[in-house]
This record gives sequence, C-alpha cells and structure tokens, in this order.
Amino acid sequence: MEFAVVCAQVPTQAVSFFPWKNSCQKGCQFEEIDIGSIPLYNQDLDTDCGPRSVSKGRELISASDAVLITLPEFNHSIPGVLKNALDWLSRPAFNSCFLKKPVLFATITPGPLGGVRAQSHMREVLASMLCNLPSVQEIVVTNCASKFSDGKLQDEPTCKHIQMVMNSFLELSGI
Ligand SMILES: Cc1cc2nc3c(=O)[nH]c(=O)nc-3n(C[C@H](O)[C@H](O)[C@H](O)COP(=O)(O)O)c2cc1C
Repeated sequence: MEFAVVCAQVPTQAVSFFPWKNSCQKGCQFEEIDIGSIPLYNQDLDTDCGPRSVSKGRELISASDAVLITLPEFNHSIPGVLKNALDWLSRPAFNSCFLKKPVLFATITPGPLGGVRAQSHMREVLASMLCNLPSVQEIVVTNCASKFSDGKLQDEPTCKHIQMVMNSFLELSGI
C-alpha cells in the first residue's frame, strides 16, 4: 500500500512527525509531498510544463492508494500554504489526481480545541475536489505541546484513537 503524505507544518518532516506509519501494517510506503516548494497559485503557470514541484505532487498522489494530511489551524481555518497546495493539486477541476482518492487528515494545535474549526473547512475543500472521504471519526490532537516529545506523539490514548480511525479508514476506503 502506498500513501502520499502532506504536512502543513512546513518544514516539519511529515512522515516522522505523525504516527501514520505505526498505524499501518509493515511494508506500506509513505512518500512526502513538499508543499513548501510549491509556488503561489497562478493560472498562467498551470500548463503542461508548469512547476516541477506541482507535477511531482500530482504524480505522487496519482500513484498512491490514499493521501494522509496533517495540519495546524490558522485563524480558525486551513493554513494558507496547504490551501495553496490543494488549489494546485485540485486542477484540472473535477478530474484531478484527487478524484475519488481516499483522504484522511488530522488537525493538531497547542490549544484545547485541536483545530476543530479547520476540520470543517478541510472537509468542505476536499469535498469540492471530489475526494473519497470515508465516514470516520475525526483525528483532533489538542494541547500538542504536552503530547509530542522528540518530534513524536507520545500520548497513548491519542495514538490508540489514531490507530482505530486508521483501521476504519482502510476498511471503508477498500484499500
Ligand atoms: C498565523 C497563525 C494563526 C493561528 N491560528 C490558530 C487558530 O486559529 N487556532 C489554533 O488552535 N491555533 C492557532 N495557531 C497556532 C497554531 O496552530 C500553532 O502555531 C501550530 O500548531 C504550531 O504549533 P507550535 O506553535 O506549538 O509549534 C495559529 C498560529 C499562527 C502562526
């Protein structure tokens, strides 16, 4: 199984930052999309020979079985750097690399709400891209400063919740 991983906490390394790997069987592949290298969206640049960072991201998502995303909440919404990447990767409209692609995302904040407001915005943006959003419980990590150490999530109940959601996600998306 192959996963494309996106982390909106640029430049954090998405694959080591969040326990996606721990929640999957051995042998799964995780490849990260570097959204920090994607330029600001410009329709004039969105051509067959557009930015390499974008075509690389599109190829990676097309070749993957599912996409896993982590994001903080900025001003009650999606960080601009992630929204910009999704805008690029969502083209051509309704026929992009995201079409029918299973997507699972997690919000992570230092505050007590864990990014719940960004959750609903993410869901709406991903729905517009005609992704496959299986009906699973939300992954919301609150008070992250006390749950992460050495760049890893150390909070047992949160790790168990992620494992449970990942199991449901894999089952419902049929991958
Ligand atoms: C511009 C900006 C806006 C933010 N807005 C929110 C917000 O609306 N809700 C929230 O919970 N955290 C907010 N934060 C905090 C981020 O979620 C937090 O900075 C991010 O998760 C990084 O965590 P750290 O500061 O512990 O490294 C904001 C941070 C920035 C830089």
